[in-house]
Amino acid sequence: MAVDEASVDPDPMTQLSRWFETARTAGEPMPEAMAVATATTNGRPSSRMVLLRGLDHRGLVFYTDRESDKGRDLKANPFSAALFHWLLPVHRQVRVTGAVEEVDDEQSDAYWRSRPLGARRSAVASHQSEVVGGRAVLEQRMAELAEALPEETEPPRPPRWGGYRIRPEVVELWEEGADRLHDRLRYQAQFGSWRIERLSP
Ligand SMILES: Cc1cc2nc3c(=O)[nH]c(=O)nc-3n(C[C@H](O)[C@H](O)[C@H](O)COP(=O)(O)O)c2cc1C
Repeated sequence: MAVDEASVDPDPMTQLSRWFETARTAGEPMPEAMAVATATTNGRPSSRMVLLRGLDHRGLVFYTDRESDKGRDLKANPFSAALFHWLLPVHRQVRVTGAVEEVDDEQSDAYWRSRPLGARRSAVASHQSEVVGGRAVLEQRMAELAEALPEETEPPRPPRWGGYRIRPEVVELWEEGADRLHDRLRYQAQFGSWRIERLSP
């Protein structure tokens, strides 16, 4: 289907979820992988991949350690840019920028409980983005946790671990076109609805 102002959904999150499902159905190996950029208050950007774990009209949710580098950036400067890139079924990119909020504890708890035991233990054992003396230190902490928390004990969610939601303010759909005459549609939030404009490729 052509990417044009008339055929895309008026809500960019609905449109993103449509493209996401299309990519997944077409066999894109990890359509939920997105790059998330943050910046320090003095304007130093950084980016890293995370996994999209929630998508609705409120925005994009991912989970992480809030005391990581990205968490520190977001505490001081709660704005982010997220980026998806898919090759299947056609070459597409989606950019989302907006303010970031913490997901509430209930939702973070629910997602925490859904994670495999080993992933929960490693989130407890590892203080993300901190320098560590060696891999053996981490493995030692994992072994200690396995002993302290036997199989049937649920490791509690550390308060530093939880979700963030990027609330979309600007969303751009990009689809490759012949002769590099790509389609670019930009949604901008405006008085409770969305303005859609075409950008030059
Ligand atoms: C495909 C992929 C998915 C990832 N998903 C997550 C994720 O959902 N949450 C997370 O905290 N880190 C995830 N990571 C690791 C991050 O890229 C990064 O190393 C980590 O979050 C620390 O980033 P920071 O030091 O900038 O805070 C993922 C890495 C890759 C390659």
